[in-house]
Amino acid sequence: MKKIKLLLILLSCNLFGQLHADEGMWLLQLMQEQNLLDKMKTQGLMIDGKELYSPNSVSLKDAVGIFGGGCTGEIVSTDGLILTNHHCGYGAIQKHSSVEHDYLTDGFWAKNRSEELPTPGLAFKFVERIVDITDSINALIKEGKVNEYDAMGREFLNKFAQDQLKNSDLNGKPGIIAMALPFYAGNKFYMMYLKNYTDVRMVAAPPSSIGKFGGETDNWMWPRHTCDFSIFRIYADKNGEPAEYSKDNVPLKVKKHFAISLKGFENGDYAMIMGFPGSTSRYLTKQEVEMRMNASNKPRIDVRTAYLNVLKDVMSKSDKTRIQYASKYARSSNYWKNSIGMNKAIVDNKVLETKNEQEIRFAQFAKENNNKEYMDVVSQIDNIIKEKTDLITNLTYFSEVFQNAIEFGSPYVVMDSLKVAVQQKDKTKIEKYIAQLKDVYNYIHNKDYDHEVDRKVMKRLIPIYGRNASKEFLLPLFQEVEKKWKGNFDAYIDNLYDNSIFSNDKNFNKFISKPTIKAIDNDPMTGFVRGKFSIYNKAIALTAKDADKLELLHKTYVRGLCEMYQPTPKAPDANFTIRMTYGNIKSYDPKDGVHYNYYTTLKGVMEKEDPTNPEFVVPTKLKELYSNKDFGRYAMKSGEMPTCFLTTNDITGGNSGSPVINGKGELIGIAFDGNWESLSGDINFDNDLQRCIAVDIRYVLFILDKLGGCKNLVDEMTIVQ
Ligand code: ARG
Repeated sequence: MKKIKLLLILLSCNLFGQLHADEGMWLLQLMQEQNLLDKMKTQGLMIDGKELYSPNSVSLKDAVGIFGGGCTGEIVSTDGLILTNHHCGYGAIQKHSSVEHDYLTDGFWAKNRSEELPTPGLAFKFVERIVDITDSINALIKEGKVNEYDAMGREFLNKFAQDQLKNSDLNGKPGIIAMALPFYAGNKFYMMYLKNYTDVRMVAAPPSSIGKFGGETDNWMWPRHTCDFSIFRIYADKNGEPAEYSKDNVPLKVKKHFAISLKGFENGDYAMIMGFPGSTSRYLTKQEVEMRMNASNKPRIDVRTAYLNVLKDVMSKSDKTRIQYASKYARSSNYWKNSIGMNKAIVDNKVLETKNEQEIRFAQFAKENNNKEYMDVVSQIDNIIKEKTDLITNLTYFSEVFQNAIEFGSPYVVMDSLKVAVQQKDKTKIEKYIAQLKDVYNYIHNKDYDHEVDRKVMKRLIPIYGRNASKEFLLPLFQEVEKKWKGNFDAYIDNLYDNSIFSNDKNFNKFISKPTIKAIDNDPMTGFVRGKFSIYNKAIALTAKDADKLELLHKTYVRGLCEMYQPTPKAPDANFTIRMTYGNIKSYDPKDGVHYNYYTTLKGVMEKEDPTNPEFVVPTKLKELYSNKDFGRYAMKSGEMPTCFLTTNDITGGNSGSPVINGKGELIGIAFDGNWESLSGDINFDNDLQRCIAVDIRYVLFILDKLGGCKNLVDEMTIVQ
């Protein structure tokens, strides 16, 4: 009896021991060296490490790539079909949408390949090769060919990468991009060779009422019921090489694609994710975390709250505006809410306290090893940070107002050149600059720009900037408003939006038909932009102070921390390179007395339905499928339709669209979000609370097949029943 009890205790310890959350966005190329495979196998990985990543043969990493500018996508058919998130395809879906073809509202389903929509500007990048270049870079530093700080800089690394490419067998091959990047704050360096496919077409997207169900209310939260997927396809030339769009291009025959499992999973089952996490800051000091809270997150929340309120109002009044601003709204709102959640989670999860403990332990570690460098490093970082906090606050206000919100602008440099050309009566030059101005004018007044909305945005945000920016960061316009406009910001802004050369076709055409020096000198927009850049350049010059010192101190601190935590391996901060994270499917308890199940079902969609709230509208067709239980082969054993699920995988923005993979290497879901209680995760991973939210592949295929009628696409996939 006693023996059995002991055995049970041991067993359960072991089980729970395995099921903690799993920190680490690991480098595939270090999997062996860091002894991760054994841990993965104990947790439930059944395939060989080589099947995940191998430098010399095809592996699952060849079925994962960068989708667009900041997401992950995975290949799910031999013919180059890409699965990613709805919110990753959102920009493309929005660009293809108009009041007549509102794919945002209605969804888009290509029933055959001729209906797949070319999407200029959209690309998909595979990782062709990863090379360790740490020794080469360190040798250059040692030989004095580059200093330690410049070696981490973009300029040096770009040149290094291009030189390496020139001497490589990949040189001259279509679509190859070579990048050299620092990892572990410059303690390691890798080259990434990517292969960039530039003809990517839109294939399928659910209506937003399904693909964005729950909208901003549910964003960053569990329980979730969003079917966050969209489908694209890679096209290539006849040789399978990257090529610009051409009607002669054909679907890419890929090296590798994911098989899809409809078998489902249980709490505790193995789950892993491969993808491109964008950025994390896990090695900050306590002081730096405070700066993140007060100088970055707080001003961002402040400005975006106002900006989003303006957009929300105008978008609710017009379908045209709603479509024009949908993507901008979602983008801004996403990190608005993230910043709110992060500041709250930093407090709730005692991140500052944890950092403090880490610093005490590190001081001890430095002392024991009698390492002078380590002893001082934290206080040195903090001294610089204290000096920078004010500047960063100003810069955040600046970028949120003048770079992320107000769109109207003009090219003052071209205007200056034009002025000289007019003075010199140089006809050729005048023509050249006018052609440039025309491009800029069309760029400003693009399909998704509304001059009146932008005017409202500026009227709302300028006073906020004025109240919060330090005096030295106030644009010249603030003086001008006092002097010339009797303190009336709106009058100044109306003049800018009504009477600039760039305000409307009439003003612009009048100007280019006869450009005069007087008109250039009097253009209010040119004056505004000139003032904006003078402040921006000043701020950037100030950020350069001690930037080198700070980076080198971080290099030391990260090295020290990794040594301190040995033998436990540490992963480097995310930098939008391919990573792997392993863990389990797992429920969680967000607070006392509350338990969250590890999955949701379609029943929850019906429970959340609210026809009066656009974020919670349920399409009639989905309700019919639900009430008829018409789930086909996609239902769970219980007969329910699964929607989303939770894993302990360590992910962040950029991982959106990543494949969630079971122990056999099959696709079981698409990662799309993190949970509210652990939004401090980019700074400090929480072992109890951190979860990744994924959409169940069975829900995706159900929607694609039963609601979208795209059996053609499902048939293209490899499905394990
Ligand atoms: N929070 C998720 C991410 O950053 C989804 C964002 C899109 N959804 C939204 N409702 N704005 O990947």
